[in-house]
Amino acid sequence: MSSILVVGGAGYIGSHVVRAFLDRGDSVTVYDNLSSGCRENLFGEATFVQGDILDSAGLLGLARAGFDALIHLAAFKAAGESMVAPEKYSVNNICGTINILNAASEAGIPRIVFSSTAAVYGSPHRIPMDETHPTDPINYYGFTKLEIERLLGWYERLRGIRFAALRYFNAAGYDAAGRINGLERNPQNLLPLVMEVAIGVRPFLSIFGNDYDTPDGTGVRDYVHVSDLADGHVRAYDFLVSQNRSLTVNLGSEKGISVQSMVDVARRVTGKPIPVRIAARRPGDSAVIVASSGKAADVLGWKPKYSDCETLVASTWNVYRDLAN
Ligand code: UD1
Repeated sequence: MSSILVVGGAGYIGSHVVRAFLDRGDSVTVYDNLSSGCRENLFGEATFVQGDILDSAGLLGLARAGFDALIHLAAFKAAGESMVAPEKYSVNNICGTINILNAASEAGIPRIVFSSTAAVYGSPHRIPMDETHPTDPINYYGFTKLEIERLLGWYERLRGIRFAALRYFNAAGYDAAGRINGLERNPQNLLPLVMEVAIGVRPFLSIFGNDYDTPDGTGVRDYVHVSDLADGHVRAYDFLVSQNRSLTVNLGSEKGISVQSMVDVARRVTGKPIPVRIAARRPGDSAVIVASSGKAADVLGWKPKYSDCETLVASTWNVYRDLAN
């Protein structure tokens, strides 16, 4: 049994990661300030410590309890907001991570699994995007994540902390067994917005452009189910233990889903009309973003099980349907 500290473990992705480690019998401690995470996502089997990553003394005190690994998911993640409030992203994402790295270093935590993002790549030069794709973020959020990857590299060189940087593509879906029901506050990603239209909280979905060079003209993304992402964290941890070397790897489904086809599947699954309006393209959006996850398959034996469009939509609807009017 391993002892895992999950920083940001009450959040949308974090709670699924906590569930995956608990499911195989590991001991889990969650550290979260509940700024976007929610209490409903905390499991009785996990120890919860409420705290902020800007509280370096609090972090260090907890880290000194001794852990086999720290999983770091605590960050702001709204790309658009990061362009108008960069200071907030600098402090929370970068300064907060420095506190985490210093606590891990001082307390002797030997491994870190880090939530990185496809946003480190910026606009695609080629599709699918593998890990050798140039990294040139087009939003400040992506820049903060890339800087953190570089910090991790230095703490490995100077302090011997092994790390796995997991570059998520578009996280979506909810635990297929229905054990996680805490909704994100102010969701900004496509599928939660589609669900908000389905339950009547929003009158329609704005489709940001239908004149892209894609089969139906709408943007294509690589949606990966959070339970598959969670499994990726467990495998990354096992890799760090067994291989004792660091890793930077994409986690994506390798399947492109368009906005229009997501809406079509959601109409069928929910039985709701889900009105849409075609709006202008959103600045910074690319036509198509799809991962190559060959490295995750080869190195981690990782293969998405839940990342088909139907399961993504149905597992999300399971959580939203109770709120429908
Ligand atoms: C966004 C972030 C990315 C981050 C990822 C996960 C940007 C530019 N990128 O990716 O950095 O890693 O979330 O948090 O913000 N769409 C609509 N109508 C909507 C909302 C979205 O048509 O109301 C479309 C978008 O144009 C896009 C697709 O749906 O084609 C997915 O959008 P979204 O969920 O916001 O994710 P990304 O922009 O791909």
